Amino acid sequence: MKTISIPFSLPTIDEEDIAQVVDTLRSGWLTTGPKTKQFESDFAAYIGCKHAIAVNSCTAALHLALDAIGVGPDDIVATTPMTFAATAEVIRYMGARPLFVDIDEATLNISPESLADTLGKMPLGDLRRLKAIIPVHMAGQPCDMDPILEVAGRYGIKVVEDAAHTLPARYKGRMAGMLGDIGAFSFYTTKCITTGEGGMVTTDNDEYAEKMRVMSLHGISKDAWKRYTKEGSWYYEIMSPGYKYNMPDILGALGLEQLKKADRLLGIRSSMAETYNRAFREMPGVELPFVSPDVQHSWHLYIIKLDLGRLKISRGRFIDELRERGVHTSVHFIPLHLHPYYRNTYGYLPSDFPKAAALYERILSLPLYPRMTDEGLEYVIDSVREILEVNQAGKGIPIGKVAKAV
Ligand SMILES: Cc1ncc(COP(=O)(O)O)c(C=O)c1O
Repeated sequence: MKTISIPFSLPTIDEEDIAQVVDTLRSGWLTTGPKTKQFESDFAAYIGCKHAIAVNSCTAALHLALDAIGVGPDDIVATTPMTFAATAEVIRYMGARPLFVDIDEATLNISPESLADTLGKMPLGDLRRLKAIIPVHMAGQPCDMDPILEVAGRYGIKVVEDAAHTLPARYKGRMAGMLGDIGAFSFYTTKCITTGEGGMVTTDNDEYAEKMRVMSLHGISKDAWKRYTKEGSWYYEIMSPGYKYNMPDILGALGLEQLKKADRLLGIRSSMAETYNRAFREMPGVELPFVSPDVQHSWHLYIIKLDLGRLKISRGRFIDELRERGVHTSVHFIPLHLHPYYRNTYGYLPSDFPKAAALYERILSLPLYPRMTDEGLEYVIDSVREILEVNQAGKGIPIGKVAKAV
């Protein structure tokens, strides 16, 4: 019997990517330099923004964004609990407090209605300290940004988009990451395009861009990276205690090649998601990812919701069953308010964000990435079908073809 293993994610790296990185290694210029600068200008042109600053993670991008808009100690920043650690930890970096707002059940994105409701009930003292909102475009589906921007405008707060899962994704035709004041992208290895680790922060605002660029490299005056080039100078000035967030050219080289493939990779991801949709539509016990007609999804993640009422097993057991068949999955996310740090620091209870807590029990992310073969995709589908069939609550009804042992 052949052992099958379908990893949860694999990057798509081709010969052009490798050649570009090797060229950088041979050039002798490894840190931030011409390749990263090229990546920044290509990225800005691709998403249609004025400034793009390459950094070494999306976490760094989010941190720089909050710093640029002036979030300070005891301020409040609203966001979703259904996100990765990074989104809220950067709020804590600034000494500010995250204010979680429950999600929309269909999209898993922050609910604009809950946002308006939460802010509408906030005491005036807290409202004065509210500085920003960080909507997270979950799985690559942009949030419903019009009402979010409307609420932000009403309360005079800034919008920093966590666009880690996008690239490219669109809302009403506009590129995600360009809808608020600042956008933060991730090029972590599982993301739609990757530099291994890496990120980009984007804005049309000159002042924010200048501040983020300076802060991304020790708070050193403009073009610090040039000090070892022919045009550069040994002299520099520290404007503020900054961070070490610059993207090295080894990564910038990979990024600029990956960006050229972003549209093609999106096409492949979309058609894989369509294959999953067609198969799972027929299977009782599984809910397909809902996609709003207003968006173009990036399909960074394909998240199904289990209908636990129809199953004899929990989501955790479902994941184990898939793993036993060699299919590796993940959960995006364990809502932040359920984690010890947020529970203990802010006294959150699961019921404080009931939709996020309830959905967490039902969601799992299936493998979806351009390197998956058609056979791999079919194998995942067959495995899901088999587990559903064997584990239906009540009388088992055949769901169709059962996966063969291969
Ligand atoms: C929603 C979200 N935001 C931010 C990040 C942080 O990205 P990075 O690993 O590039 O710092 C991630 C990482 O997976 C994420 O999923």
